[in-house]
Amino acid sequence: MRSALIAATAIATGLTITSTPAKAVGNLNLICSADVVICEQMKESFEKENDIKVNMVRLSSGETYAKIRAEARNPKTDLWWAGTGDPHLQAAAEDLTLEYKSPMLDQLQDWAQKQAESAGYKTVGVYAGALGWGYNTDIFTAKGFKEPKCWADLLDPALKGEIQIANPNSSGTAYTALASLVQIMGEEPAFDYLKKLNANVSQYTKSGSAPVKAAARGETALGIVFMHDAVAQTVEGFPVKSVAPCEGTGYEIGSMSIIKGAKNLDNAKAWYDWALKPEVQSRMKDAKSFQLPSNKTAEVPKEAPRFEDIKLIDYDFKTYGDPAKRKQLLERWDREISASAN
Ligand code: F6P
Repeated sequence: MRSALIAATAIATGLTITSTPAKAVGNLNLICSADVVICEQMKESFEKENDIKVNMVRLSSGETYAKIRAEARNPKTDLWWAGTGDPHLQAAAEDLTLEYKSPMLDQLQDWAQKQAESAGYKTVGVYAGALGWGYNTDIFTAKGFKEPKCWADLLDPALKGEIQIANPNSSGTAYTALASLVQIMGEEPAFDYLKKLNANVSQYTKSGSAPVKAAARGETALGIVFMHDAVAQTVEGFPVKSVAPCEGTGYEIGSMSIIKGAKNLDNAKAWYDWALKPEVQSRMKDAKSFQLPSNKTAEVPKEAPRFEDIKLIDYDFKTYGDPAKRKQLLERWDREISASAN
């Protein structure tokens, strides 16, 4: 309120306002690509601490990328918070996002700083998390399914119609899965694997975490998701066990970008700096958001799956964060997998 008054007085008296993020006023048009509960928590605490109204939409990572591309000439969004890093990198490569070096940068983990550097500071890492799956232990026990420890186990014919994963066009999680399998197996074997997996998939959801929410509620036996999303269901009290695949797996660097042409640029910067603060990232666990935070001094939730305990691949963000690679893989997925989906 106070800053609104200062701004109004300055305008009335003809003074020039040099707007710093902390004193920014007005609106912020934000797309949030994380889970809706953490999106709401972030919006509420930002509004409480700043004199800025946040108009927020929750969209999956691939959907956001498509929207930002479509609106490139007349951007309606100021800031894109969260969602997997690949589409943020793709947006940066297409010059859809704005270079910004936050004063918070040197407080961040190396992987978050590297993400920024590799994109010419047109994005930055906000959290990280490994891909895996969550399965409903009650269903597995009742139906006598073998414990699924490896990617190979998901092809068991007994699991026909028992698995869900998102659609990689809309979901960053599913794009990470597609890119991870290609990196683990090679492209031909990976598509061969996905064709076989397709026989066991009942549904390709829009959002990345939906499959494990369905598993938690007994609507499917297993959901391929980020492990932190599976852990969130276990913490909620559902009979969900999370798995880090034995052959190895990929991971995300959840990211944040300012949209080029943002109408509320100072406010976008205010959110950007704020969202990199340790106290803000430490609060994410209150919304059962159990990723690894990018600020070095933020509290790592005790529930967060630790990278040290997971066989991680050296995920090639440069290659799979490239717009041409995205297009090629998704076109192939549409042709060979989606077209033959049940
Ligand atoms: O639910 C949280 C989360 O898994 C994030 O860690 C991730 O960045 C995002 O969702 C991806 O969502 P989607 O797959 O819907 O793009």
